Amino acid sequence: MTALIVTGTDTGVGKTVFAAALAGALGAHYWKPVQAGPDEDGGSDALKVAALAGLAPDHILPEAYRLTQPLSPHRAAELDGLEIDPARLVLPETGGPLVVEGAGGVLVPLTRTVLYADLFAAWAAPVVLVARTALGTINHTLLSLEALRARRVPVLGVAFVGDANADNEATIAQLGEVRRLGRLPLLTPLTPEALARAFAAHFTLADFR
Ligand SMILES: Nc1ncnc2c1ncn2[C@@H]1O[C@H](COP(=O)(O)OP(=O)(O)OP(=O)(O)O)[C@@H](O)[C@H]1O
Ligand SMILES: [Mg+2]
Repeated sequence: MTALIVTGTDTGVGKTVFAAALAGALGAHYWKPVQAGPDEDGGSDALKVAALAGLAPDHILPEAYRLTQPLSPHRAAELDGLEIDPARLVLPETGGPLVVEGAGGVLVPLTRTVLYADLFAAWAAPVVLVARTALGTINHTLLSLEALRARRVPVLGVAFVGDANADNEATIAQLGEVRRLGRLPLLTPLTPEALARAFAAHFTLADFR
């Protein structure tokens, strides 16, 4: 099994949309281990991927935890009267490629002692860091790379989202010593067809295999 972890520099950077494009292109299974609250459209990331990726329904795996509140998982769990057990967050065996989406950014807490980056380190699967192209991204992206590397998490590269910003993208690749995997433009309208076309035009599928 080949798992790829999709994380990001922040919440709302475009992890789910990128993960849908990637999972669709690979014919992968998609798994969001912890869903904390409804997203801005009232649904879940798994439902958004189901709508965007063009995958069979059985390729969207059920979450291990579905929490009520749209908060950091450690707090959302507490408010639901439970504690996330990281031992339950084992990568599912799918017999093929698997795309896994974290919540928020790399140092988001799952519990009061375990962060997402700790989980990524335990999984030892390569991480794609989704980053904005816009102002502020150099700081957020370099900080995220440092946090991942401090835990020896293998970083496949950075997937940018947004309008082209050649200097931001090149500066991150240079100072972060990281591969620029490509850039997903902001799509209007965001349809499965437009997303698949944009991914094919702006990324190289072989980079993810
Ligand atoms: N390439 C894109 N084109 C158009 N809209 C986009 C694109 N990427 C993201 N969006 C929109 O931006 C918003 C946030 O994107 P998304 O849900 O993918 O972020 P996220 O990083 O997964 O957030 P979360 O931390 O909540 O999981 C959504 O409304 C999404 O539809
Ligand atoms: Mg998401």
